[in-house]
Amino acid sequence: MLKILNIAGARPNFMKVAPIYAEMKRRAAEFEPMIVHTGQHYDAAMSDAFFDDLGMPKPDIYLGVGSGSHAVQTAKIMTEFEPVVLEHKPDWVLVVGDVNSTIACALVCAKLGIKIAHVEAGLRSWDRGMPEEINRILTDSISDLLFTTSQDADENLRQEGIPAERVRFVGNVMIDSLLEHLKIAENSKVRTDLGIVEGAYAVMTLHRPSNVDERDVFGGILDALLSVAERLPIIFPVHPRTRAKIEEFGFLGRIAASNIKLIEPLGYLDFMRLYSGARLVLTDSGGLQEETTVLGIPCLTLRHNTERPITIEMGTNVLVGTDPDKIKQAAKNVLENPVVAETKIPPLWDGKAAGRICDELIGFA
Ligand code: UD1
Repeated sequence: MLKILNIAGARPNFMKVAPIYAEMKRRAAEFEPMIVHTGQHYDAAMSDAFFDDLGMPKPDIYLGVGSGSHAVQTAKIMTEFEPVVLEHKPDWVLVVGDVNSTIACALVCAKLGIKIAHVEAGLRSWDRGMPEEINRILTDSISDLLFTTSQDADENLRQEGIPAERVRFVGNVMIDSLLEHLKIAENSKVRTDLGIVEGAYAVMTLHRPSNVDERDVFGGILDALLSVAERLPIIFPVHPRTRAKIEEFGFLGRIAASNIKLIEPLGYLDFMRLYSGARLVLTDSGGLQEETTVLGIPCLTLRHNTERPITIEMGTNVLVGTDPDKIKQAAKNVLENPVVAETKIPPLWDGKAAGRICDELIGFA
């Protein structure tokens, strides 16, 4: 029987932890799983809504750390998490993705000699200006078992000197959640409520500090969006960080006069219903590059790099950076060409990754 603490901290963690936790619960003779929520994301819309939609129980342990600078947030998570590990003495702590909660909890365990499993290991943007890249590199270097979503990640880990015995290519748990909930999401009324129909709107998400924290960069992206919105409405669920910047930079007036509709962050199912019917997605999210790949929806990624190159090689993703003309041109290309019917799905993005992760944990000597 393996006692496992599963760490969930921020919005993109929840849909990765959910299928793993559910699988461990199903295999009750082999696993004793618990959920630890660090509280990195704490708004109802950024956290509770996801637990509800994903059918996850309330976390067993809530650390309630909240926001802060990177150092403050990371340090708070470590300070709060250490006594939890000491009390529960887990066999494994399982961390997912690349947020501050991921590295903070992994670092606590490395020092206490508790085994760490990292789900979504080996992704690299090669951009150390991105806080997530630092979190990825450090977490991978101290993990005992590294679960990868694609084989390019295995190669990245090999180049960093991580022994192959520790690396397991298991596929993508985020896609486990997507495939499990796609049908259920059809019950969402989000399209009706917004007055939009399938294939006749675009969806936008933007939250990376590099895109929203500087007025010129965000302003340039907004110029491009205003132009795209002349052709089709853009629905833009706004992350709290981005909302604050829109207000600070005085962008609200231009947006209100356009065909861009700002809405509150959506829950998992409503958001799935929204992007799954979009003609085009514009984003700087990591997960959305993968979700649109599986669904065959054109995705323009407003970044200069991606740690998920397979979404470009096999999927529908195009890196467009933040230059307004490039964004406009790429959107024009998508809108003036028919949607490609054939969708290629990367290997092992098949809805069964959580099962493979559990098998590997049990089999690991
Ligand atoms: C974090 C992750 C990022 C992920 C993103 C998804 C890190 C380094 N970054 O970035 O990889 O893509 O989550 O959303 O871990 N805030 C609220 N309510 C909340 C959470 C945040 O109002 O529930 C506001 C606060 O003002 C906070 C700001 O958003 O300061 C940023 O939150 P933070 O958790 O620091 O990073 P994210 O930008 O959300």
